[in-house]
Amino acid sequence: MTSQPFTILAAAHELPCRVVTNDELAAQMDTSDEWIRQRTGIHTRHIAAPDQTTSTLSTSVAQKLLHQSGVAPDQISYVLVATMSPDYATPATAAQVQGNIGATNAVAFDLSAACSGFVYGLHVMAKLLAGAAPGYGIVLGGETLSRLVDWQDRSTAVLFGDGAGGVLVTNNPAAGNGQYLGDDLHTLGDQGEYLTARQLGGSDPDPYLRMNGRKVYSFATRHVPRSLTAGVTQAGLSLTAVDYFLLHQANARIIQQVAKELDQPLAKFPQNIATVGNTAAASEPILLSTEIADRRIQRGQTLALCGFGGGLTVGTVILRY
Ligand code: ACO
Repeated sequence: MTSQPFTILAAAHELPCRVVTNDELAAQMDTSDEWIRQRTGIHTRHIAAPDQTTSTLSTSVAQKLLHQSGVAPDQISYVLVATMSPDYATPATAAQVQGNIGATNAVAFDLSAACSGFVYGLHVMAKLLAGAAPGYGIVLGGETLSRLVDWQDRSTAVLFGDGAGGVLVTNNPAAGNGQYLGDDLHTLGDQGEYLTARQLGGSDPDPYLRMNGRKVYSFATRHVPRSLTAGVTQAGLSLTAVDYFLLHQANARIIQQVAKELDQPLAKFPQNIATVGNTAAASEPILLSTEIADRRIQRGQTLALCGFGGGLTVGTVILRY
């Protein structure tokens, strides 16, 4: 895709109040704080309260985005929610959010691409806004993975958390200097069996999230550096021109290995996995939101976002913030 005006006017996130430590998990399954920290980098994760769902978390992010940007709900043209843990098969979480915030002129739909969902969502939003009249779109990633995991399965239960994050973007060049600079997206559907979660409540005897961790790990460490390199090249840039690489927070070891592979300093790879865990589609927008709020990410900087996971999917988007 060629470069186009694409300014992030606001970024926000929402995390459930309840924090669950590794020791709490170790009290209910055969695991330990030491194993989880060493193998994943996760110390704690947020878990939704019974009345919190993917749509309520996503709605509160959308409300924060409107508040921060000053954009009125009826000015929004599109609401996209990337999720693998929607409240319902239908209505879409995005439709629920659209209704909740009163974005009466917006077309809203969900996008299912697991941990690549937010990056895929940015790509779709850029396509929707390309060449269109100046307008606004909301891209969210929201998950309540605590409702998909099997709490008896230590190989997955310790990895995941709940949360939502997102951005409000515009294609109006008068509203900011942000740019969508390039991308690289791939789907490897023939490897989909390595990460599956069926709809709960059906007749399936094993509806829970199941992952072949080793297969997904080697997929990630092979394809993420490739995709980042291809995305940067497509944007006409070099890796050194990227100020920050925002990777899906699945495992601190994957991030370290990607940094090494790309020969880029680890300081260019912000992380929140220690306190947030793996929140799938919500992972990157939560990270983006906190980095912007903490003023580490500044206007004019070049960002490379890379998601990877179920599908299997991988995707990179290069943005000028
Ligand atoms: N506590 C203690 N021991 C454990 C735990 C646990 N929670 N989980 C597994 N083990 C044991 C295993 O049984 C195994 O024991 P064995 O050697 O006796 O057989 C041993 O620890 C090592 O298991 P591995 O699976 O080889 O551990 P690994 O170092 O690969 O780490 C992990 C597992 C963290 C899942 C890693 O493979 C990983 O991060 N994979 C990629 C995950 C990812 O990127 N997902 C993508 C996005 S997710 C999405 O799209 C929703």
